[in-house]
Amino acid sequence: MMSPQSALSRNVQQRFPKPRFTSSQVTLSGHAEAPLVRYLAERDRPAIQDHLLALSNTDRERRFHNCLSDFAIIRYVRDLDFGRMAFSGAFHMGTGKLIGLAEAHMNPAHKPDMAEMSICVLPDHRGRGLGTDLLDHLITAVRARGVRHAEFYFQPANRTMIRLVRSFSHCRMVAIGYAVVSLIQEEPTDLRNMVA
Ligand SMILES: CC(C)(COP(=O)(O)OP(=O)(O)OC[C@H]1O[C@@H](n2cnc3c(N)ncnc32)[C@H](O)[C@@H]1OP(=O)(O)O)[C@@H](O)C(=O)NCCC(=O)NCCS
Repeated sequence: MMSPQSALSRNVQQRFPKPRFTSSQVTLSGHAEAPLVRYLAERDRPAIQDHLLALSNTDRERRFHNCLSDFAIIRYVRDLDFGRMAFSGAFHMGTGKLIGLAEAHMNPAHKPDMAEMSICVLPDHRGRGLGTDLLDHLITAVRARGVRHAEFYFQPANRTMIRLVRSFSHCRMVAIGYAVVSLIQEEPTDLRNMVA
């Protein structure tokens, strides 16, 4: 297991170059390795399904708190409500594959200022800042929709997720496996506590 200090001192060259952010267009200039991050829409449902079906049983448990079968994942994707959800996806520029997906579930009638977020990055692309970048991107979208707090549920033993949510300076660990991040103050990039 990596100590917080070794996480901080990870080789910066291993980090993905900052992704290109776009709402609709694909830009072909820039660093070849930089993934493209954009908001996802109805037409991206097949890419979301392929991404989730590519997860191992262990990752399905981490992501859904349950080892969903392929059939259950297909049903989950079919039932996604794009009207009450926001998605940020990272696409590999070489293959066009969706390599990272951040989801925000909103319930304006019940909790108008809260979104439940979940995140998944394919194993070959982890540990390079992509999960962090995707959450920053998604936070921008939900803040524009009036969301002021993001909640995260994760397995208590999911150390990477604990480090990821703790890297937000306004994160409160409410319980083991449940954290709330305040989005109220600064811009998303300023929310990150670079010190520890
Ligand atoms: C959780 C997950 C999305 C992380 O994706 P990732 O692309 O590897 O994330 P990042 O590279 O941005 O961050 C990973 C690491 O950097 C750390 N980090 C990120 N920003 C940091 C900062 N500013 N300062 C210090 N550490 C930081 C993270 O805490 C984490 O630590 P670790 O690699 O030592 O465990 C990925 O592991 C995954 O898909 N897991 C399976 C699904 C899952 O667990 N989902 C969560 C439940 S919803």
